[in-house]
Amino acid sequence: MPEFDAIILGGGAAGLMCAARAGQRGKRVLVLEKAEQPGKKILISGGGRCNFTNIGAGPANYLSANPHFAKSALARYTPRDFLELVERYGIAWHEKTLGQLFCDGSAKQIVAMLLEECAKGGVEVKCGEEVVAVSQNGTFTVQTQSEAYSAHALVIATGGPSIPKMGATGFAYDLARQFGLKVVEPRPALVPLTLGGEEVLFREISGVSAPVVATANKTSFAEAALFTHRGLSGPSILQVSSYWRPGDPVAIDIVPDRAAEWLLDAKRDHPRATIRSLLREALPDRLADILADKIGVGSELANTADKALRAAGERLKRWEFHPNGTEGFAKAEVTVGGISTAELSSKTMKAKRIPGLYAIGEAVDVTGWLGGYNFQWAWASGVAAGDAI
Ligand code: FDA
Repeated sequence: MPEFDAIILGGGAAGLMCAARAGQRGKRVLVLEKAEQPGKKILISGGGRCNFTNIGAGPANYLSANPHFAKSALARYTPRDFLELVERYGIAWHEKTLGQLFCDGSAKQIVAMLLEECAKGGVEVKCGEEVVAVSQNGTFTVQTQSEAYSAHALVIATGGPSIPKMGATGFAYDLARQFGLKVVEPRPALVPLTLGGEEVLFREISGVSAPVVATANKTSFAEAALFTHRGLSGPSILQVSSYWRPGDPVAIDIVPDRAAEWLLDAKRDHPRATIRSLLREALPDRLADILADKIGVGSELANTADKALRAAGERLKRWEFHPNGTEGFAKAEVTVGGISTAELSSKTMKAKRIPGLYAIGEAVDVTGWLGGYNFQWAWASGVAAGDAI
């Protein structure tokens, strides 16, 4: 049976980074990837341009049952470190918005770079090899559909169940449970929310978007919201979806540039205006109309009581939607939850109770915001394990 110092299960972002680091430290490393090519999620990320990091990434941009867990790895491998690697390979990049760094060319360049880094470390990357069973008897034995391999260290880097169409599964969790590690209930994150009941009305304006501030569970994001044929999407909604729990409302400030009492000011300055006409100035017409219909105050501002204007203004600053669900793992960019950080060392990603076992990347209960944060976690956790194996 071929023997290695370390076998990395999964040739995605975290697995390739980990393998390259360990290989370049002289370790004999094997990556087993079930797809026909490595890094498939990297290739489709950022619309094919890969939002490979966020220059402002820090622990506050991540969700985890232990919000301190990510600190150590993120501090030791920073966005600047990854950027330095990207620049060493001559990959042109740009900042799109909010610190999000993308390739000018193609995400293929990031995969090629990681494979080159693996080659420098003599890493063997085997694709089309689905891991079906793992056992431990002093060393780890890994069984794929066609072969068996053994190693002293085993790294779980098989990601989370987001986008099953791409072959994503909960394999990492099954394996973790096999070794007695706890798993924090996984749920879809960075995912569109669905609307039902009376709110299906908003589906009629599918395709309309507007800059808003969306809030769920006391966490707010100022970015665009998009109405869809199923409910709500767009960056601000994807962001709050990671914090949203069934039954929670999502509050949307539809007029973030307006002060709380803007309708009273407007009454003084434009008494002949209506709420509808003012909303049409601030928002796409179809959204303005549906909101004006719902508010139901049609008269000119001069003929509307201050109390009604104040109430309408407050409602627009905190319009409550009541999503009846999410579009699920099929549409979720990432997974919240995963292998419990309580089981792992934050410095090395090593399982505290199982010698030689590591877990990195999305498989672990650390989830980033939208905007390059998830890849930064994949790189940082991959480096932490790769340097420790
Ligand atoms: P990842 O999923 O990348 O890799 C796991 C690998 O393990 C896969 O290649 C899989 O085939 C393999 N595998 C699974 N089971 C196996 C088995 N039994 N045997 C062998 N191999 C197995 N993030 C970001 O920061 N910026 C962005 O622009 C985007 N964009 C984006 C777009 C879309 C559409 C999605 C779905 C996701 C993103 N993300 C993102 C999130 C990002 O893709 C994600 O966080 C990382 O890919 C996670 O890296 P991992 O290496 O942990 O898992």
